Amino acid sequence: MGKKEEEDEYPEERETDDDESSEEESEERWRKHYSSRHRILLVGEGDFSFALSLATHFGSARNMVATSLDSQEKMYSKYNNAITNVRELEEKGCLVLYGVDAKTMSQHFFLSTQRFDRIVYNFPHVGFLFREESHCQIQLNKRLVKGFLRNAKLLLKKQGGEIHISHKEGHPYDKWDLVKKADKIGGLKLNQSVPFCKDDYPGYDNKRAHGTLPDASFHLGDCTTYMFTLA
Ligand SMILES: C[S@@+](CC[C@H](N)C(=O)[O-])C[C@H]1O[C@@H](n2cnc3c(N)ncnc32)[C@H](O)[C@@H]1O
Repeated sequence: MGKKEEEDEYPEERETDDDESSEEESEERWRKHYSSRHRILLVGEGDFSFALSLATHFGSARNMVATSLDSQEKMYSKYNNAITNVRELEEKGCLVLYGVDAKTMSQHFFLSTQRFDRIVYNFPHVGFLFREESHCQIQLNKRLVKGFLRNAKLLLKKQGGEIHISHKEGHPYDKWDLVKKADKIGGLKLNQSVPFCKDDYPGYDNKRAHGTLPDASFHLGDCTTYMFTLA
């Protein structure tokens, strides 16, 4: 066999190698707290517009896994832009997973094999089962956050890993006691909390996700990103 033929024998393998090295060599890009070099897990996405905002800025989403609790069918029926957002994300190399529960995700067949630099859940909320300020509703939301933190802790890289929760400020959201929750779980500490500004993520459209208008965005007002690290 001539040299040219030998070279062409495994073209796909060679392509993969090239892709990997070009990714390593490509310029690092940052969007706020997130780098194109971070391995990022997004949890509880709405229409995947937050994931797409990062991916568009990075120029690639090969470093990202974006997840939603909803099935693919349900997600597509709830959000007008879901299909196009997911298509763009997948074209950029993002792994999109459906039916991922934040409270059990550390046992997910794929996620359980992975470790991440950033695990991000923007505006956790179980849905409007009771009045927003009622004890029952607050308890359910607190349980969601606790379950998320417990599971995220297990999927975090030991070196430099961070869990981010963006959350509305004021009543009744301050009753969720995010920081106390992390304390109680153990092994996590609040590293810093910084204001969350939607404009920092062009294209991101925060979604209600529940009720009769799941595709509508909700008023954010003052919000904060809480950043937890392993203690
Ligand atoms: C207020 S919406 C925010 C959606 C999205 N993160 C955003 O910023 O637009 C709350 C999200 O939490 C998700 N959610 C509720 N319970 C969940 C759970 N157990 N695991 C994962 N996601 C959950 C809902 O499906 C919904 O997408």
